[in-house]
Amino acid sequence: MKFASITGWGSGMPPAVLTNDDLSTFLDTSDEWITSRTGMKERRISHVSAIEMATVATAQALACAGLDAADLELIIYGGCSNEEAVPNSASGVQYALGARRAAAMDVNTACTSFLYGLATASGMIRTGVVKNAVVIGVELISRYMDWSNRNVAVLFGDGAAAVVVQAGGRDDGVIASVLGCDAEARASLRVRGVGCGYAGRGITFGDTLWDFDGQVIFKRAVKGMSEASLRVLAQAGVTAEDVDLVVPHQANLRIIEAVAKHAGIPMDKVMLTVQKYGNMSSATVPVSLVEALNEGRVKPGSLILMPGFGAGLTYSALLVRWGDRVQPLAVSPRTLPPCEETALAMVQRVRASQDPHGRSQAGLLGATLVDRQAGLTDDRDS
Ligand code: UT7
Repeated sequence: MKFASITGWGSGMPPAVLTNDDLSTFLDTSDEWITSRTGMKERRISHVSAIEMATVATAQALACAGLDAADLELIIYGGCSNEEAVPNSASGVQYALGARRAAAMDVNTACTSFLYGLATASGMIRTGVVKNAVVIGVELISRYMDWSNRNVAVLFGDGAAAVVVQAGGRDDGVIASVLGCDAEARASLRVRGVGCGYAGRGITFGDTLWDFDGQVIFKRAVKGMSEASLRVLAQAGVTAEDVDLVVPHQANLRIIEAVAKHAGIPMDKVMLTVQKYGNMSSATVPVSLVEALNEGRVKPGSLILMPGFGAGLTYSALLVRWGDRVQPLAVSPRTLPPCEETALAMVQRVRASQDPHGRSQAGLLGATLVDRQAGLTDDRDS
């Protein structure tokens, strides 16, 4: 059995910052509410496509690993805000990088897409299917957010990061993994309006209705992430004291604090980016990992716990033993273009294209009725 070491890392973060005060200019909310309930102060709004963010993150990760795009064998694109379903987004990154030999697949388990993707890539490398892979976590949520809904609009941000995984002889990389899904609660976290189930019902793609039961998600997230964390530690035969760093999904500071408490790990071992990037869904873990490396918080041989949860409700916890190298071999010249607009101006443009009162909600309720008649919905679908 081969091992699958993480040898490269990089991000593609958009520069435009949307503050809590920006949000209060058009939503009935406040910096005080958002900070106290979520820990978030700022998030990023992207001026470029998700594939462009993913391409920059991948180029940086490849340079960091010293791997040529032409030698890349697999691209796993983790995310749930893809610009298109067909063709997939991984192929867009392959094309942009000229990584012609790479297989290209998208993974969508919502916020856990990066973790599921990293477990998949590591398994494929260990079993000899490929020798190397890049795993990306990327989201462009601002373009399809329902900006009239304060329950969700304050929570999310855009961003991307990627890691390179390569076959190696040393026992590092992902050393244990737990992947699961609490599907009983799948209706508690839903973005209606995206997908072929809504076709032909007068709904424009991206004209979404965000249907979240925040408190149900909160409780299930704490349970799912805590249990997965304890299971993955047991699987590897280590204890909470052995963990050097936790890089969790960043949906809410209070969720992270509760998970750390359940797992018996002090908060000074937890990497936090929720305050400056909000919830970037599948991008939160890789972006936080890259920041931890940049800040010198990852040491050679560090044991890193990565727990997450997302719509489904999928959950996951990976345990990573870091290798020897914590510095990039090189930095790619590929960066995002400068952004000429403010984050608030970009959000206002999306808002101007949305109809907060009629079309989406009426259309979607109609769609739900059709689903119910066809026996396609569960109890919370109305
Ligand atoms: O990664 C997966 C997606 N993540 C999530 O779904 C997040 C999981 N849930 C959470 O993080 C928390 O449940 C929230 C941050 C969403 C909400 O925090 P909470 O402490 O559970 O608040 P709550 O649901 O009890 O809402 C309290 C009040 C409500 O008003 P009433 O009914 O008490 O009058 C809300 O209408 O806060 C109100 N509220 C807001 N007020 C100001 C909801 N959103 C806002 C807002 N600004 N943005």
